[in-house]
Amino acid sequence: MIITIDGPAAAGKGTLASTLAEKYRLAYFDTGMVYRAVGLMMVLDGLDVNDEVLAEETAKKLTFVKMIELSRHPDFRSQTGSRAASIVSAHPKVRAALLKMQQDFALTPTFADGKPANGVIYDGRDTGTVVCPQADIKLFVTAATEVRARRRYDEYKQKGIDTPYDKVLADMIARDKRDSERASAPLKPAEDAVILDTSEMNAAEVAAKASALIEAKTAKKITTGCRIKQIVLEK
Ligand code: DC
Repeated sequence: MIITIDGPAAAGKGTLASTLAEKYRLAYFDTGMVYRAVGLMMVLDGLDVNDEVLAEETAKKLTFVKMIELSRHPDFRSQTGSRAASIVSAHPKVRAALLKMQQDFALTPTFADGKPANGVIYDGRDTGTVVCPQADIKLFVTAATEVRARRRYDEYKQKGIDTPYDKVLADMIARDKRDSERASAPLKPAEDAVILDTSEMNAAEVAAKASALIEAKTAKKITTGCRIKQIVLEK
């Protein structure tokens, strides 16, 4: 089974994906990590993230192991890291260089300990439109901008990061604009995605709604890969 969850930052994708991954024993790929890794590699090497050629070269060097290693760096999820990720993710050549790595994850879905999983859950911006258009279930999780900025602000506060709410909101608006207006794979729901607006829902309510959709749909269609040579079993 393959599930994709797309949507803007701080909409609740990660929380939902983790819950569903555990419930249905799915391997989870947070695809924002590939862009965060490339952005951070460039920042650490003193490279200009606006330079598409250098960004593509960096993306081509990225491996899964390197991505996991970089994810432990303090700037991986900081505002600096988020900004770099957002800029490199707008380069079409970077997106192309990172596509296969994301799709290959669904070929033999396994957990970090090597045990086999029942499938894959992706979260990102284009996982239902570009990475895995064949997915069984596509969700588009969103929430009002102010609600998402408040969630991000609370998250930073919990981590001891002191950033004014207005700055978090302004960053969120700028990132949404970049993510949805870029020419290559802009953030938008797949035509067959189910839209979940989480502005007035808690995590448990979102998970219950998504689970009901999954259980209604999986009886009909099970996909086992994202690339061309996939096996689709129609029941
Ligand atoms: O989900 P996130 O905040 O970790 O994503 C980091 C950046 O990467 C964000 O600006 C959007 C971009 N991204 C993307 O363009 N496509 C994806 N599938 C996932 C993330």
